[in-house]
Amino acid sequence: MNVDRIRSDFPALDARADRPPPVYLDSACMSLVPRPVLRAMEEYYRDYPGCAGRSLHRFAEEVGRRYEAARSAFARFLGRDDPRGIIFLRNATEAINLVGQGLAWSRGDRVLISDQEHNSNLIVWQRLVAERGIRIEVLPLSADGSFETELLERHLAGGVRLVSLFHTSNLDGRSLPVREVTERAHDHGALVLFDGCQAAPHRAVDLDREGVDYYAVSAHKMLGPTGTGVLAATPAGLERLRPLLLGGETVETSSLTGHTLRPVPHRFEAGLQNYAGVIGSHAAIDYLARVGLEAIEAQQREVNRRVTSALEGEPRIHPIGPTDPAERPSIYAFTIDGVDPNDAALFLDEGHRVMIRSGRHCVHSYYESRGLPGNLRASFYLYNGVADAEALVRGVRELLERLPGRPVSGTSAARRASPPRRGSGPSRAAGSTGAAARSVPPRRTGVRGRAGSARGSG
Ligand code: ALA
Repeated sequence: MNVDRIRSDFPALDARADRPPPVYLDSACMSLVPRPVLRAMEEYYRDYPGCAGRSLHRFAEEVGRRYEAARSAFARFLGRDDPRGIIFLRNATEAINLVGQGLAWSRGDRVLISDQEHNSNLIVWQRLVAERGIRIEVLPLSADGSFETELLERHLAGGVRLVSLFHTSNLDGRSLPVREVTERAHDHGALVLFDGCQAAPHRAVDLDREGVDYYAVSAHKMLGPTGTGVLAATPAGLERLRPLLLGGETVETSSLTGHTLRPVPHRFEAGLQNYAGVIGSHAAIDYLARVGLEAIEAQQREVNRRVTSALEGEPRIHPIGPTDPAERPSIYAFTIDGVDPNDAALFLDEGHRVMIRSGRHCVHSYYESRGLPGNLRASFYLYNGVADAEALVRGVRELLERLPGRPVSGTSAARRASPPRRGSGPSRAAGSTGAAARSVPPRRTGVRGRAGSARGSG
């Protein structure tokens, strides 16, 4: 895989007069978009800006054809035989909400989640606890990434209606054994939903073979645009769901007193759709398929291995999750003793053009229950090479040299000493290393403003 060649496809990585190329290590949040995807979206608006399934003219015909081609392409990409199982939505969050709000629940039904789920796979269930009387069961995960099958069995034996887990964690990059979980869940009569946001961009998934009932992905983490996601379900799984939204395109016919819903998948796609987004997302998965997911994962493993081993001997650095980077190829998550994670992220961006994420990564429950204020996370993708790994390591080493290792909020030292904080994330208030971070050159403008906004804490 030629990383330099790949990088040249991503305009966000171009050097510009006002800006050297960034070291972008935040693809778990949002991946960059290559030229073929930008082109595909522009072509839609320029060449055939119609709406599908309504008018008969050539624009409408063309967009309809491309929209359904995207559906078939996603089915192939995710290993679904029947494209009718592919529903286009805004993102994985909406896909999980569709399952949560769409299943017919009875009081006492149980949903099994892990103790490391993104808010997208937690809040929806909490609402159902309050509104429909379901119960949430929590599967505790090990710190080292190993999976305890017996624990899963114990929960399943208690009677679970739906198992809803991440496939790959956005927090530490570990993956769960999809096929094993699915088989065991089905043996106990439970349905299975996986949040595939951090997995599908990096590794081949074969949903029919693995038997997964529902799988949610977001295109913005796999080279596609924001605002486009997919629920990949079995047709039988979709038949069980009540649509979240109703309106144009969801009905065969309607009168002033009633309506007949269209068959799946159309009953789930209400109103005019995000055609440019869907067509761009199709171009994105074509791009990924051309490069090859195996090659992508191997490259990430190498980049991650370099970061992991370079920082291994630093006593103030504490990686999170599996020790072996091969078990978390897309993510290197860590804390630094004595440094607030938000300050560290700002330092790396301002001083080294290294963009990583800090905070609680939308997994607030994990940090709350452990009394942790947050951490740093570098995430890798196909455009990251060894030079990016080196830039990150250089930046972190400089930070360690310049910022004293005194205990502050946001650090593991402080974590051991103080109770969990409430609120939106690591703050930059008293105890923050912000002042020290701000004093460190080289630096561009705007640090003060950004510091004040407590960004990056979500
Ligand atoms: N889920 C996204 C992340 O982990 C937002 O950054």
